[in-house]
Amino acid sequence: MFFSTVATALFALPLFAQSAVATTCSRTYTVQEGEWCDTISAAHNVSTYQLAVVNSDKINKACTNLQAGSSICLGFQGEDCTTTHVVKAGDTCDGISNTYRINSTLLYHNNPQLTAECDNLYVGEVVCVQGDSAVSPLPDNSSMPAATIPPGAIPATPTKASSTPAPTPTPVPADDDDDDGDCDEEEEEEELPWCDELN
Ligand SMILES: *[C@@H]1O[C@H](CO)[C@@H](O)[C@H](O)[C@H]1NC(C)=O
Ligand SMILES: *[C@@H]1O[C@H](CO)[C@@H](O)[C@H](O)[C@H]1NC(C)=O
Ligand SMILES: *[C@@H]1O[C@H](CO)[C@@H](O)[C@H](O)[C@H]1NC(C)=O
Repeated sequence: MFFSTVATALFALPLFAQSAVATTCSRTYTVQEGEWCDTISAAHNVSTYQLAVVNSDKINKACTNLQAGSSICLGFQGEDCTTTHVVKAGDTCDGISNTYRINSTLLYHNNPQLTAECDNLYVGEVVCVQGDSAVSPLPDNSSMPAATIPPGAIPATPTKASSTPAPTPTPVPADDDDDDGDCDEEEEEEELPWCDELN
């Protein structure tokens, strides 16, 4: 009796877990040679966040395991954002909201990876700018994709950290070894006061 109950419970669990995450793909795409997640997103109007979340079981966080010929899902039915913007240098979240006439609440709702300061927006990132809610929830067991600027990507907006002035490079000192006392122009000014009298 006891054993059969346990066995039933173990069987029931995967079925329950499966139905809880049941989603239908609304668009599929076959990966081509030489593509990267953000290039696919830009070409097919999929946000960076959406592509990562929808494929969290097959594409790794750095998007280094795409296989040419493999089929990926671009969006889930009812959660598929198809109005997108490819981030350019100088873009800000406020600027994007204004351009597409959506409020920032909706922009952040549909792009949950963006920080409140909007300092993790990067050039080439694809954001959802749809005028209504269109966002796939983050699966429980995965971390937020695109929350940090990928290595090598360029931040869209100068951040607080990078606006700290870089140390001023020390100018290469002028060649000051010309100390031969022959009253040439450089020495005349600073080092050899008698040069004035000679001229
Ligand atoms: C992506 O959106 C743009 C602008 O709305 C549209 O011109 C283009 O046809 C769309 N591309 C795809 C693949 O849906
Ligand atoms: C999260 O869980 C799903 C369903 O169990 C699994 O398919 C997927 O690989 C998991 N993802 C990660 C990032 O662990
Ligand atoms: C933002 O826009 C959405 C969609 O138009 C709307 O439902 C929501 O009330 C707006 N929120 C604010 C704070 O204006």
